[in-house]
Amino acid sequence: MNNGQPVNRSWHLASRPQGDLQPENFELRESAMPQPGKNQFRIRTLYLSLDPTHRLWTREKASYMPSVKLGEVMRGFTMGVVESSNHPGFPTGAIVTGVLGWEAYSISDGSGFVNRVEMDPRLPLTARFGLFEHIGLTAYFGILDLLHPKVGETMLVSGAAGAVGSVAVQIGKIMGCRVVGIAGSDDKCQWVKNELGADAVVNYKQKSWRAALATACPTGVDTFFDNVGGECLEAVLDLINMKARIAMCGAISQYGKDDQMVGPPNIYNLLNKRAKLEGFIVLDYAADKRWWAKAHDDMTQWYLQGRMKYKLDIVDGLENAAQAVTKLFNGTNTGKLLVKVAEEPARH
Ligand SMILES: NC(=O)c1ccc[n+]([C@@H]2O[C@H](COP(=O)([O-])OP(=O)(O)OC[C@H]3O[C@@H](n4cnc5c(N)ncnc54)[C@H](OP(=O)(O)O)[C@@H]3O)[C@@H](O)[C@H]2O)c1
Repeated sequence: MNNGQPVNRSWHLASRPQGDLQPENFELRESAMPQPGKNQFRIRTLYLSLDPTHRLWTREKASYMPSVKLGEVMRGFTMGVVESSNHPGFPTGAIVTGVLGWEAYSISDGSGFVNRVEMDPRLPLTARFGLFEHIGLTAYFGILDLLHPKVGETMLVSGAAGAVGSVAVQIGKIMGCRVVGIAGSDDKCQWVKNELGADAVVNYKQKSWRAALATACPTGVDTFFDNVGGECLEAVLDLINMKARIAMCGAISQYGKDDQMVGPPNIYNLLNKRAKLEGFIVLDYAADKRWWAKAHDDMTQWYLQGRMKYKLDIVDGLENAAQAVTKLFNGTNTGKLLVKVAEEPARH
């Protein structure tokens, strides 16, 4: 409240990052509470998802989405509750997710991947970010559409203890693969092996990790779900089998380098091994309503059967978002990184 008037709080892009994202790249501002116009509705943000892709959206050049302009509200995936509506499809009280902003309140007309959340009531609301949306469904579509795993094959997952990677490890096991993870600390490696069921996990921060990776993949690598790029991708390219498939989900090791990003020098090994490397963006799959719904059903069933786990790293308070986003780049997030912006309403 400002002089008795309700206010909005939002993070704006203050400067373009040099290297990884820093808190100084963002500025928290207050403004008047936004009012919905015709066919619009106001959403009170409950959770803001912090994602590596924020680094891509803050560069000067567009990525798979336009860049956020200096001074604009920082874009983000959020979950919220509609609290004032002039839109018949989004009544007051509806829970929605969408690509909106790092802010306490957003105005929407339903565009921008805004969807009503219809979820099995046995699942907590936050499962939306652990298992579905741009996290669990990224692993799902990347594996099923690009990797086509076969029982007994070796599947490698980088960023294996992260939000997307941890789901990828478990889907790999459900598909009957021998799954090998790569992660950045011994604790993370233990979690991926003991809790998620990976057959082997290698800590890429250990000195001879590339030799350890080769030992962990005695019959080579058939499929690779890559979240990291850079040296990880290079190490795996040395181990791929004939007709290997690589899903390029992300390249977090390279995001901070902007135009100085480097590709692996042994990329030609794709040729030697008649292998395939393919990039994808999960949002593209949203247009296929049937497959999207099937993915939701499969993930829900796997979770309810106890075959799928997720971990959340929840930071309290919108004011902490700019500091919290750095955790993604120094590896201190343990699970899907979320900012809790407001209390969840009771679910009926
Ligand atoms: N294609 C798509 O549609 C799509 C959708 C969502 C996410 N993604 C991509 O998926 C990847 C994972 O995203 P997420 O949301 O699941 O994040 P996350 O894995 O939960 O968090 C990021 C993790 O990346 C690792 N990391 C950071 N800097 C690194 C570096 N220089 N080298 C190696 N590892 C590094 C850290 O783990 P360690 O401690 O293990 O290093 C960190 O915890 C990102 O590349 C993201 O852009 C793609």
